[in-house]
Amino acid sequence: MLKIIVAMDQERGIGFNNQLPWSIKEDLKEFKRLTLGHGVIMGRKTMDSIGKALPGRQNYVVTHQSSLPYEHINIVHDINKFFCDKQFSEDLVYVIGGASLYKMALNYVDELIISEVKGTYTCDTFFPSFNEEDFTLNSVVEFSEFTQKRYGRKFK
Ligand SMILES: NC(=O)c1ccc[n+]([C@@H]2O[C@H](COP(=O)([O-])OP(=O)(O)OC[C@H]3O[C@@H](n4cnc5c(N)ncnc54)[C@H](OP(=O)(O)O)[C@@H]3O)[C@@H](O)[C@H]2O)c1
Repeated sequence: MLKIIVAMDQERGIGFNNQLPWSIKEDLKEFKRLTLGHGVIMGRKTMDSIGKALPGRQNYVVTHQSSLPYEHINIVHDINKFFCDKQFSEDLVYVIGGASLYKMALNYVDELIISEVKGTYTCDTFFPSFNEEDFTLNSVVEFSEFTQKRYGRKFK
């Protein structure tokens, strides 16, 4: 099973200069709580931004390069094959960004977990728009600096 997890601001901004535009401890805590023990797949730029494999999770990194200077990662070259394999698998893999990965994953994921960060920030990377009719808003939880919304796919 595949799920997207993302934090975006009121204008769908998700990144600036290959970093998160904000520092929100509670959101990072939620990210850890949800992803721990599962797989995470990310683009190579997001890997560069994080700087090391996330502990306690199976880390997959998508790249055209044959190797990357990180330990404890699994390199993925064929992202469509990866998504096809994981889509109906019992393993849960979170798509953790960035924009290029989110765009490719939208057709495959069962759930979107979106932290809507309050306010707007200077951003150069944005979460792609998606067809809200394909998803049902299943839960809304308020945190002090963001609202967590969970959307489930209606059908595949
Ligand atoms: N707010 C959030 O929740 C959140 C989450 C994650 C990331 N971000 C932000 O998003 C930004 C990065 O996003 P991004 O879209 O620029 O980069 P990205 O998706 O993290 O990485 C892009 C890279 O992934 C690889 N890639 C993409 N498609 C591929 C394909 N079809 N086959 C093989 N490799 C492929 C390429 O790596 P190679 O160049 O090595 O071939 C490409 O340069 C940063 O600012 C980061 O902080 C925000």
